[in-house]
Amino acid sequence: MKKNTVVIVGAGSTHTPGIIQSLLQKKEEFPLKKLILFDIDEERMNMVKSIMTQFIEEAYENLEVISTSDYKEAFTDVDFVFAQIRQGGLKMRSCDEKIPLKYGVVGQETCGPGGSISYGIRSIPAVIEIIRQAKKYSPNCWILNYSNPAAIVAEATRILRPNSKILNICDMPIGTETRMAKILGLKSRKDMIVKYYGLNHFGWWTDVRDKEGNDLMPRLKAYVGEHGYLPPEVVDHQHMDPSWIETHKKAKDILATDPTTLPNTYLKYYLFQDYVVEHSDPNYTRANEVMDGREKHVFTECRRIAEKGSSEGTTLTTDNHSIFIVDLATAIAFNTKERMLLIVENNGAIKNFDPTAMVEIPCLVGSNGPEPLLVGEIPQFQKGLMEQQVSVEKLVVQAWIEKSYHKLWQALMLSKTVPSATVAKAILDDLLEANKEYWPELK
Ligand code: G6P
Ligand code: MN
Repeated sequence: MKKNTVVIVGAGSTHTPGIIQSLLQKKEEFPLKKLILFDIDEERMNMVKSIMTQFIEEAYENLEVISTSDYKEAFTDVDFVFAQIRQGGLKMRSCDEKIPLKYGVVGQETCGPGGSISYGIRSIPAVIEIIRQAKKYSPNCWILNYSNPAAIVAEATRILRPNSKILNICDMPIGTETRMAKILGLKSRKDMIVKYYGLNHFGWWTDVRDKEGNDLMPRLKAYVGEHGYLPPEVVDHQHMDPSWIETHKKAKDILATDPTTLPNTYLKYYLFQDYVVEHSDPNYTRANEVMDGREKHVFTECRRIAEKGSSEGTTLTTDNHSIFIVDLATAIAFNTKERMLLIVENNGAIKNFDPTAMVEIPCLVGSNGPEPLLVGEIPQFQKGLMEQQVSVEKLVVQAWIEKSYHKLWQALMLSKTVPSATVAKAILDDLLEANKEYWPELK
């Protein structure tokens, strides 16, 4: 069986221990030859490295592992790049969330002015650089990219690096499907076959069936209409903070906006903007929760494991995020043709929608990459929402390419989260100031 070399880019992330654990758990399906950690922040990476060595010794006999901040060392002879960088770190996430809130506008990691526009402009060059390095040192490798905002990154790579072997991915639908499976009393989300379409963090399920073909939508809708995506018992630890629980619950109201489908929870930022703003604390946003919660937990646990010299009793676990990326690598490495939701060029899959849009739809994944499945025609409501949002995403990428202030302003004006051109401009000017270190000079 072929063994694979993987480099994790952004290895200092709080998600890396989970990815390492998933790689180890799936060592039969996806055997490793070598594992490389790469990060420009060596301090964070070293914390993760200390436990990685421990985990690996407990699972593999002879696995070569290295950590480095040198591109050549990291990218040479690799089969897969797992990219999960956060340009500007949680500090800039915090600015992205807080600045729009000052103007009564949604402040969110990947949605609205902070998420799509501010973070988007920071991420584009960083992901393009990963593609450049990967092509230079391992021209045949696949880049599996979690780096956000995935919608913007996907559009940027489509235009700027059209023939790259990069797959842009998201774990949100997977997380929600795990919840659906629990609601239905199924063992795994893989017991369901789903139809889904949309943009990243902006989509709908149109069909959920069991392996025998029985329609599970009626039961799901009845449950979600009452409780949102909150199953009777705990599902995973990834999205369990109080603000996430609130988000899962809110799916109940999103469902009411179109009872024929089941919604992605991110739609709340576009359909219940006023509610979101009212329920946000402009001085303490999700970035703060993550810094005080997950980040502390992961790094305290890393230190404890390193000191003890054993991972026994660890509270660090695999989750949807980590399992999905390893499943995807397995599908490519071993041509499994697993059906997975990926962000790909529409190219006619959604018949009545821009063929050049990057959409999130089911694909069969094999060694030659994804084969997108046909979606067909979508209703006016979704089409209208998606056209507006995809225009925001395309304008952000055009603005980056042309270094255009005006196009960024237009992107902000078009965002459903922003009430007027005046507010759009005020937010843009604040974001520009906050991103001085990261954004190019705009004309
Ligand atoms: C989901 C999304 C990711 C996003 C994350 C934020 O997993 O798919 O794209 O980055 O949520 O979660 P957090 O716990 O960091 O707020
Ligand atoms: Mn995502």
